[in-house]
Amino acid sequence: MSKRYAVILAAGQGTRMKSKLYKVLHPVCGKPMVQHVADQVSNLHINEIVTIIGHGADQVKSQLGEQSSYCLQEEQLGTAHAVMQAKDLLEGKEGVTLVVCGDTPLIKSETMERLFSHHEETKAKATVLTAYTEDPTGYGRIIRNDHGFVEKIVEHKDASDEERKVKEINTGTYCFDNQALFEALNNVSNENVQGEYYLPDVIEILKNAGEIVTAYQTDDFEETLGVNDRVALSQAEKILRKRINTLHMRNGVGIIDPENTYIGTDVKIGSDTIIHPGTILNGQTTIASDCIIGPNTEIKDCQIGEGTVIRQSVAHDSVIGAGVNIGPFAHIRPQSQIDDEVKIGNFVEIKKASFGKGSKASHLSYIGDAEVGSDVNIGCGSITVNYDGKNKFLTKIEDHVFIGCNSNLVAPVTIGKGAYVAAGSTVTEDVPGNALTIARARQVNKENYADKLNQKN
Ligand code: UD1
Ligand code: CA
Repeated sequence: MSKRYAVILAAGQGTRMKSKLYKVLHPVCGKPMVQHVADQVSNLHINEIVTIIGHGADQVKSQLGEQSSYCLQEEQLGTAHAVMQAKDLLEGKEGVTLVVCGDTPLIKSETMERLFSHHEETKAKATVLTAYTEDPTGYGRIIRNDHGFVEKIVEHKDASDEERKVKEINTGTYCFDNQALFEALNNVSNENVQGEYYLPDVIEILKNAGEIVTAYQTDDFEETLGVNDRVALSQAEKILRKRINTLHMRNGVGIIDPENTYIGTDVKIGSDTIIHPGTILNGQTTIASDCIIGPNTEIKDCQIGEGTVIRQSVAHDSVIGAGVNIGPFAHIRPQSQIDDEVKIGNFVEIKKASFGKGSKASHLSYIGDAEVGSDVNIGCGSITVNYDGKNKFLTKIEDHVFIGCNSNLVAPVTIGKGAYVAAGSTVTEDVPGNALTIARARQVNKENYADKLNQKN
């Protein structure tokens, strides 16, 4: 098999987005568009992936990292000019080059693979991926001759009324014979309405040079949607959302209301887990089987074990075990580690804390920078006082400890195994195992004092 290269075009500003964020970095289902494209391209066997960067170059580079090499396009003079920037890396090499736009986030690797095959089978020098749509406004049109062969591509802005009636569009994805591509690029001019060097012109140039040029039409226009503004962005989001949710449901995940459930592409969910409406699952999140998640729950970068229930809560960057019960209205902040059968109840905030098996913080607590053992009960309103205004300190609560309601554990402090902390205590010193600590003023009852007060008035 000949060598394969890929060029991802990602240098444009995306003026039509009217945004500070560069276009290809806008997320679709929680992942930047260009990352979607790069991930799909990475699924193919490609010898070298080159991304053309310009606007937001550093951000795009740090987003894709090692997945790609990079060429800088300092001025954005058009898509042909963009591909030209890969000259130093690719020119003269034998093989096939896939060119794909960073703003077509829904394109699938299977479709690109079929484009490669079609290109190779037809022995073409250029193959354009096309699609049919009832509303082709804005897209380049595929102009075919009387025999049905592709002649050229005309941009919407340059097209005649007749050409604008064509409903077969250029998806912006192509395969080229690499050497023929770089030769043809030298002949692309910018004599058009936009004064840009158009990559689609390569098709006509190669055709006129007597080379074989073909088109491969996909039957799924939705997949090739180009995102130029926020309306298209929301369409892409909707299409991808449906695609992702459908896949999960086919795999046995229960999604009560798929239109109002937002699951990122890389999220994994086990069967018989039920996702309630208003739930947003993102990043590298894995949820095992038989869980109940939501409604209105936001989870990012978490690992969640079997049979866990998380209702109306937020959890980020944490590991949560099996049979755990969280919420309603709990907040699990990053670097928390919650073992099996733990209960984190209403209005409890956990930050950078570990909870051993079976422990409970059922109501109104803040537990930050803490190591909580197993079978610990943290009473309502108790908190770890982890911050002195400058530094953070650790609270250790060993196994089987009982923390009475409304206690303050002033860190650094350790509550030894099996100890009891009386309600309302402010604990500033370590408590030995099995002890009872009472760290508050003793109650004084003044008999009939109310009468005395009443007399004064
Ligand atoms: C392009 C195609 C059009 C096709 C459509 C499919 C051209 C001239 N037109 O139009 O035929 O129907 O895509 O979505 O190619 N970019 C650069 N450098 C540049 C210009 C663009 O890197 O100098 C990048 C952009 O960041 C973007 C991609 O190329 O990711 C496409 O550019 P865009 O301006 O969106 O092209 P369209 O007008 O959508
Ligand atoms: Ca575009």
